[in-house]
Amino acid sequence: MADSTPRLLERKSFVVITGASRGIGKQIATKFAAALSNTSFFLLLARNVAALEDLASVLMTSHPGVQVSCRKFDQGILDQDIFDTLFVSVLKEHGLKIDDFEQSVIVHNCATVGDVSKNALEMTEVTPLQKFFEINVTGMILLNSAFFKTFGTVKNRLIVNITSESSKIPYPSMSIYCASKAARDMFFRVLAAEDPSIRVLTYSPGPCDTDMLANIRDKSCGELSGVLKNYYNEGKVLSCEASVDKMIAFLNKNTFKNAEAILGESD
Ligand SMILES: NC(=O)c1ccc[n+]([C@@H]2O[C@H](COP(=O)([O-])OP(=O)(O)OC[C@H]3O[C@@H](n4cnc5c(N)ncnc54)[C@H](OP(=O)(O)O)[C@@H]3O)[C@@H](O)[C@H]2O)c1
Repeated sequence: MADSTPRLLERKSFVVITGASRGIGKQIATKFAAALSNTSFFLLLARNVAALEDLASVLMTSHPGVQVSCRKFDQGILDQDIFDTLFVSVLKEHGLKIDDFEQSVIVHNCATVGDVSKNALEMTEVTPLQKFFEINVTGMILLNSAFFKTFGTVKNRLIVNITSESSKIPYPSMSIYCASKAARDMFFRVLAAEDPSIRVLTYSPGPCDTDMLANIRDKSCGELSGVLKNYYNEGKVLSCEASVDKMIAFLNKNTFKNAEAILGESD
């Protein structure tokens, strides 16, 4: 059972952040390193390992005591061996034991938006569609299960699921993205129903200035392209920092309902 202290971000934690190389994930790593106990350990995952290592170096310099490890990880490569060995090998490499930690945290931030130049009826090709769901849904589920297979006995467990209003609103041109976000949210709702002792924050960051949002603005075949151009012109796009600060505030307050979507802003 989780202990009674509500301070999620003060515990000595083993923290995994996916998609930490840029955008919102990079900002989450930055803010978590500042907020969490400086005896915490961070594992940063993404394909661009050079970007992760640059970030790790900044974090360890600015927060002495914090340990950061980086692994090249493509969430769309569904190799059983990767999921079976990833976390155990990181613990071994750094001489860590599961009992060293008061809390295990996984932030599911990694996602891709897919081909937004096509409408739902144009989703005809097997390979890109399969790959999309492998990255956004299947790989995320496998990583999550692998994480808790290794860290399931840690007293306190926290999942942050980065969602989007697209999980609830059917935006034209975003069919597979909306479907994948809805699938993720429901997956975590079921997980939370099965094991209420795991805290699950499902957080919707709002429209943030990242590669993903710019891609939707530039390539969407739907109305979102025009809407986002206006958002950019009118200064309505959020900085990742402002959105992640709100997320940290929800975690600090610790009154959110497990796996119930919380909006940072409408996005
Ligand atoms: N930006 C927004 O306005 C907005 C709004 C609502 C929700 N969100 C959600 O917020 C999260 C982050 O979005 P973002 O805007 O920061 O996106 P982004 O700028 O496109 O960054 C995506 C991150 O995911 C990683 N990634 C992409 N494909 C991957 C793969 N196959 N395997 C492993 N890592 C992969 C990327 O790293 P590498 O390329 O190095 O692998 C990168 O670090 C996503 O879940 C997104 O759906 C964003």
